[in-house]
Amino acid sequence: MTGGAQRWSSDTPLPITDFETVLTTTRAVRRRLDLDRPVPRGEVLDCLRLALQAPTGADAEDWRFILIGDPGVKLAVGDEYRRAFDREVRPRLPGLLAGAGPADAAGAGPEAAERRRKARVYGGAEYLADNIHRVPWLVLACATRPYPGPHMAPSVFGSVFPAVWSFQLALRSRGLGSLITTLHLRRPEGLAALLGIPAGVTQCALLPVAYTLGTDFRPAARRPVADVVFADVWGRPLDGTGEEDDR
Ligand SMILES: Cc1cc2nc3c(=O)[nH]c(=O)nc-3n(C[C@H](O)[C@H](O)[C@H](O)COP(=O)(O)O)c2cc1C
Repeated sequence: MTGGAQRWSSDTPLPITDFETVLTTTRAVRRRLDLDRPVPRGEVLDCLRLALQAPTGADAEDWRFILIGDPGVKLAVGDEYRRAFDREVRPRLPGLLAGAGPADAAGAGPEAAERRRKARVYGGAEYLADNIHRVPWLVLACATRPYPGPHMAPSVFGSVFPAVWSFQLALRSRGLGSLITTLHLRRPEGLAALLGIPAGVTQCALLPVAYTLGTDFRPAARRPVADVVFADVWGRPLDGTGEEDDR
Protein backbone atom coordinates (compact mmCIF):
# COMPACT_ATOMS: atom_id res chain seq x y z
CA MET A 1 0.00 0.00 0.00
CA THR A 2 3.01 2.33 0.03
CA GLY A 3 2.23 3.25 -3.58
CA GLY A 4 -0.91 4.90 -2.26
CA ALA A 5 1.21 7.68 -0.78
CA GLN A 6 1.69 9.11 -4.24
CA ARG A 7 -2.02 9.61 -4.72
CA TRP A 8 -2.17 12.55 -2.31
CA SER A 9 0.33 15.24 -2.99
CA SER A 10 -0.54 18.37 -1.02
CA ASP A 11 0.16 17.76 2.64
CA THR A 12 -0.97 19.71 5.68
CA PRO A 13 2.10 20.59 7.76
CA LEU A 14 2.42 18.74 11.05
CA PRO A 15 1.67 19.04 13.88
CA ILE A 16 -1.72 20.53 13.11
CA THR A 17 -2.37 22.95 15.94
CA ASP A 18 -5.28 24.92 14.55
CA PHE A 19 -8.29 23.77 16.54
CA GLU A 20 -10.83 24.24 13.77
CA THR A 21 -8.70 22.33 11.28
CA VAL A 22 -8.28 19.42 13.66
CA LEU A 23 -12.00 19.35 14.49
CA THR A 24 -13.16 19.50 10.89
CA THR A 25 -10.64 17.19 9.24
CA THR A 26 -10.45 14.28 11.66
CA ARG A 27 -12.06 11.69 9.42
CA ALA A 28 -12.76 7.99 9.71
CA VAL A 29 -9.63 6.76 7.92
CA ARG A 30 -9.67 3.38 6.21
CA ARG A 31 -8.05 3.28 2.75
CA ARG A 32 -5.58 5.95 3.73
CA LEU A 33 -4.14 4.09 6.71
CA ASP A 34 -0.45 3.52 5.98
CA LEU A 35 -0.13 -0.19 6.66
CA ASP A 36 3.61 -0.27 6.03
CA ARG A 37 4.93 2.55 8.21
CA PRO A 38 5.62 1.61 11.83
CA VAL A 39 4.16 3.86 14.53
CA PRO A 40 6.24 4.29 17.71
CA ARG A 41 4.32 3.02 20.70
CA GLY A 42 5.26 6.20 22.60
CA GLU A 43 3.40 8.29 20.04
CA VAL A 44 0.18 6.34 20.61
CA LEU A 45 0.65 6.45 24.39
CA ASP A 46 1.20 10.19 24.29
CA CYS A 47 -2.08 10.65 22.40
CA LEU A 48 -3.78 8.50 25.04
CA ARG A 49 -2.23 10.71 27.74
CA LEU A 50 -3.97 13.68 26.14
CA ALA A 51 -7.18 11.68 25.77
CA LEU A 52 -7.25 10.99 29.50
CA GLN A 53 -8.03 14.66 30.10
CA ALA A 54 -11.56 13.97 28.86
CA PRO A 55 -14.43 13.82 31.36
CA THR A 56 -15.84 10.65 32.91
CA GLY A 57 -19.10 10.21 34.82
CA ALA A 58 -18.55 10.89 38.54
CA ASP A 59 -14.88 11.47 37.67
CA ALA A 60 -14.52 7.71 37.96
CA GLU A 61 -11.89 7.27 35.22
CA ASP A 62 -13.52 3.94 34.54
CA TRP A 63 -11.93 3.63 31.13
CA ARG A 64 -9.34 1.06 30.15
CA PHE A 65 -7.55 0.69 26.82
CA ILE A 66 -5.91 -2.39 25.38
CA LEU A 67 -3.07 -1.42 23.06
CA ILE A 68 -2.64 -4.31 20.64
CA GLY A 69 0.56 -4.48 18.62
CA ASP A 70 1.48 -8.17 18.71
CA PRO A 71 1.07 -9.51 15.15
CA GLY A 72 -0.53 -12.77 16.31
CA VAL A 73 -3.05 -10.98 18.50
CA LYS A 74 -3.82 -8.47 15.73
CA LEU A 75 -4.42 -11.36 13.35
CA ALA A 76 -6.88 -12.99 15.75
CA VAL A 77 -8.67 -9.69 16.48
CA GLY A 78 -8.75 -8.94 12.75
CA ASP A 79 -10.35 -12.35 12.10
CA GLU A 80 -13.02 -11.55 14.67
CA TYR A 81 -13.74 -8.18 13.06
CA ARG A 82 -13.80 -9.67 9.56
CA ARG A 83 -16.21 -12.38 10.66
CA ALA A 84 -18.54 -9.67 11.98
CA PHE A 85 -18.20 -7.80 8.69
CA ASP A 86 -18.92 -11.00 6.75
CA ARG A 87 -22.07 -11.57 8.79
CA GLU A 88 -23.42 -8.03 9.00
CA VAL A 89 -22.22 -6.15 5.94
CA ARG A 90 -20.64 -8.24 3.19
CA PRO A 91 -23.91 -9.79 1.98
CA ARG A 92 -25.28 -6.27 1.38
CA LEU A 93 -22.15 -4.99 -0.36
CA PRO A 94 -23.22 -5.53 -3.99
CA GLY A 95 -26.22 -3.24 -3.48
CA LEU A 96 -24.27 -0.71 -1.44
CA LEU A 97 -21.43 -0.52 -3.93
CA ALA A 98 -23.73 -0.23 -6.93
CA GLY A 99 -23.70 3.57 -6.69
CA ALA A 100 -19.93 3.76 -7.06
CA GLY A 101 -18.38 5.23 -10.14
CA PRO A 102 -18.16 8.62 -11.77
CA ALA A 103 -21.06 11.08 -11.54
CA ASP A 104 -22.07 10.55 -15.16
CA ALA A 105 -22.43 6.78 -14.70
CA ALA A 106 -24.20 6.89 -11.33
CA GLY A 107 -26.43 9.85 -12.24
CA ALA A 108 -26.68 13.42 -11.04
CA GLY A 109 -28.58 15.04 -8.19
CA PRO A 110 -28.50 14.63 -4.41
CA GLU A 111 -29.72 11.03 -4.39
CA ALA A 112 -26.99 9.91 -6.75
CA ALA A 113 -24.44 11.86 -4.72
CA GLU A 114 -25.66 10.09 -1.57
CA ARG A 115 -25.37 6.71 -3.33
CA ARG A 116 -21.81 7.54 -4.33
CA ARG A 117 -20.96 8.65 -0.78
CA LYS A 118 -22.37 5.43 0.65
CA ALA A 119 -20.50 3.37 -1.92
CA ARG A 120 -17.26 5.14 -0.97
CA VAL A 121 -17.82 4.50 2.75
CA TYR A 122 -18.72 0.83 2.26
CA GLY A 123 -15.88 0.29 -0.20
CA GLY A 124 -13.59 1.64 2.51
CA ALA A 125 -15.27 -0.52 5.14
CA GLU A 126 -14.63 -3.62 3.03
CA TYR A 127 -10.99 -2.62 2.56
CA LEU A 128 -10.65 -2.15 6.31
CA ALA A 129 -12.24 -5.50 7.13
CA ASP A 130 -9.82 -7.25 4.80
CA ASN A 131 -6.75 -5.43 6.12
CA ILE A 132 -7.46 -4.51 9.73
CA HIS A 133 -4.87 -6.97 11.07
CA ARG A 134 -2.16 -5.09 9.13
CA VAL A 135 -2.47 -1.75 10.98
CA PRO A 136 0.41 -1.02 13.36
CA TRP A 137 -1.86 -0.70 16.39
CA LEU A 138 -5.37 -1.65 17.40
CA VAL A 139 -6.75 0.13 20.45
CA LEU A 140 -9.72 -1.38 22.27
CA ALA A 141 -11.51 1.12 24.51
CA CYS A 142 -13.45 -0.42 27.40
CA ALA A 143 -15.44 0.67 30.45
CA THR A 144 -14.94 -1.11 33.76
CA ARG A 145 -18.68 -1.27 34.26
CA PRO A 146 -21.19 -3.82 33.01
CA TYR A 147 -23.68 -2.80 30.36
CA PRO A 148 -26.52 -1.37 32.49
CA GLY A 149 -29.37 -1.61 29.98
CA PRO A 150 -30.50 0.97 27.47
CA HIS A 151 -31.48 3.76 29.85
CA MET A 152 -28.16 4.00 31.62
CA ALA A 153 -26.03 3.09 28.62
CA PRO A 154 -25.16 6.79 28.12
CA SER A 155 -23.34 6.84 31.45
CA VAL A 156 -21.13 3.90 30.49
CA PHE A 157 -20.42 4.77 26.86
CA GLY A 158 -20.48 8.47 27.66
CA SER A 159 -17.59 7.97 30.04
CA VAL A 160 -15.39 6.51 27.33
CA PHE A 161 -16.27 8.19 24.03
CA PRO A 162 -15.12 11.70 24.96
CA ALA A 163 -11.64 10.21 25.50
CA VAL A 164 -11.94 8.16 22.32
CA TRP A 165 -12.64 11.29 20.29
CA SER A 166 -9.88 13.27 22.02
CA PHE A 167 -7.54 10.39 21.18
CA GLN A 168 -8.56 10.57 17.53
CA LEU A 169 -8.06 14.36 17.46
CA ALA A 170 -4.62 14.03 19.04
CA LEU A 171 -3.66 11.36 16.51
CA ARG A 172 -4.83 13.52 13.64
CA SER A 173 -2.81 16.51 14.81
CA ARG A 174 0.31 14.32 14.54
CA GLY A 175 -0.39 12.83 11.13
CA LEU A 176 -1.95 9.62 12.40
CA GLY A 177 -5.37 8.31 11.41
CA SER A 178 -7.95 6.15 13.14
CA LEU A 179 -11.60 5.30 13.18
CA ILE A 180 -14.18 4.05 15.62
CA THR A 181 -15.36 0.51 14.88
CA THR A 182 -18.09 -1.35 16.71
CA LEU A 183 -19.19 -4.01 14.22
CA HIS A 184 -17.76 -6.85 16.29
CA LEU A 185 -19.68 -5.72 19.39
CA ARG A 186 -22.80 -7.63 18.44
CA ARG A 187 -20.80 -10.59 19.73
CA PRO A 188 -18.33 -9.10 22.21
CA GLU A 189 -17.59 -12.50 23.72
CA GLY A 190 -15.22 -13.24 20.81
CA LEU A 191 -12.74 -10.48 21.72
CA ALA A 192 -13.40 -10.98 25.44
CA ALA A 193 -12.16 -14.56 25.19
CA LEU A 194 -9.22 -13.64 22.98
CA LEU A 195 -8.00 -10.77 25.14
CA GLY A 196 -8.94 -12.06 28.59
CA ILE A 197 -11.46 -9.30 29.24
CA PRO A 198 -13.27 -10.08 32.49
CA ALA A 199 -17.04 -10.17 32.97
CA GLY A 200 -18.41 -6.78 33.96
CA VAL A 201 -16.19 -4.89 31.53
CA THR A 202 -18.00 -3.31 28.56
CA GLN A 203 -16.15 -3.05 25.27
CA CYS A 204 -16.92 0.33 23.66
CA ALA A 205 -14.90 0.65 20.46
CA LEU A 206 -11.98 -0.85 18.55
CA LEU A 207 -9.76 1.72 16.83
CA PRO A 208 -7.22 0.89 14.13
CA VAL A 209 -4.33 3.39 14.29
CA ALA A 210 -1.71 4.15 11.63
CA TYR A 211 0.02 7.06 9.95
CA THR A 212 -2.13 8.42 7.15
CA LEU A 213 -1.21 8.39 3.49
CA GLY A 214 -0.97 12.14 3.05
CA THR A 215 -2.38 14.58 5.56
CA ASP A 216 -4.75 16.60 3.35
CA PHE A 217 -8.11 15.56 4.76
CA ARG A 218 -11.13 17.73 4.11
CA PRO A 219 -14.23 18.57 6.15
CA ALA A 220 -17.09 16.14 5.49
CA ALA A 221 -20.32 17.24 3.86
CA ARG A 222 -22.69 17.44 6.81
CA ARG A 223 -26.23 18.72 7.09
CA PRO A 224 -26.42 22.38 8.04
CA VAL A 225 -26.91 23.30 11.71
CA ALA A 226 -30.46 24.52 11.09
CA ASP A 227 -31.44 21.04 9.85
CA VAL A 228 -30.49 19.30 13.07
CA VAL A 229 -31.05 21.86 15.82
CA PHE A 230 -34.51 22.53 17.23
CA ALA A 231 -35.59 25.60 19.17
CA ASP A 232 -36.75 24.82 22.72
CA VAL A 233 -38.93 21.84 21.84
CA TRP A 234 -38.50 18.85 19.55
CA GLY A 235 -39.21 19.63 15.93
CA ARG A 236 -39.50 23.43 16.17
CA PRO A 237 -37.13 24.98 13.63
CA LEU A 238 -34.71 27.72 14.51
CA ASP A 239 -35.88 31.07 13.23
CA GLY A 240 -33.64 33.83 11.90
CA THR A 241 -29.88 33.56 12.14
CA GLY A 242 -29.70 33.21 15.92
CA GLU A 243 -27.25 36.08 16.05
CA GLU A 244 -29.79 38.42 17.63
CA ASP A 245 -30.52 35.85 20.32
CA ASP A 246 -27.60 36.18 22.73
CA ARG A 247 -28.39 35.04 26.27
C1 LIG B 1 -20.37 4.64 17.11
C2 LIG B 1 -19.66 4.44 15.80
C3 LIG B 1 -19.46 3.16 15.33
C4 LIG B 1 -18.80 2.93 14.12
N1 LIG B 1 -18.54 1.64 13.71
C5 LIG B 1 -17.86 1.44 12.56
C6 LIG B 1 -17.50 0.12 12.16
O1 LIG B 1 -17.79 -0.87 12.85
N2 LIG B 1 -16.82 -0.04 11.00
C7 LIG B 1 -16.46 1.03 10.21
O2 LIG B 1 -15.83 0.81 9.16
N3 LIG B 1 -16.76 2.29 10.58
C8 LIG B 1 -17.43 2.53 11.73
N4 LIG B 1 -17.71 3.81 12.13
C9 LIG B 1 -17.22 4.94 11.32
C10 LIG B 1 -18.34 5.63 10.57
O3 LIG B 1 -18.79 4.77 9.58
C11 LIG B 1 -17.79 6.95 10.02
O4 LIG B 1 -17.82 7.89 11.03
C12 LIG B 1 -18.49 7.41 8.79
O5 LIG B 1 -18.00 6.64 7.74
C13 LIG B 1 -18.32 8.87 8.49
O6 LIG B 1 -16.99 9.16 8.25
P1 LIG B 1 -16.38 10.54 8.73
O7 LIG B 1 -16.44 10.50 10.22
O8 LIG B 1 -15.00 10.58 8.19
O9 LIG B 1 -17.23 11.63 8.16
C14 LIG B 1 -18.34 4.04 13.34
C15 LIG B 1 -18.52 5.35 13.84
C16 LIG B 1 -19.15 5.55 15.05
C17 LIG B 1 -19.29 6.96 15.56
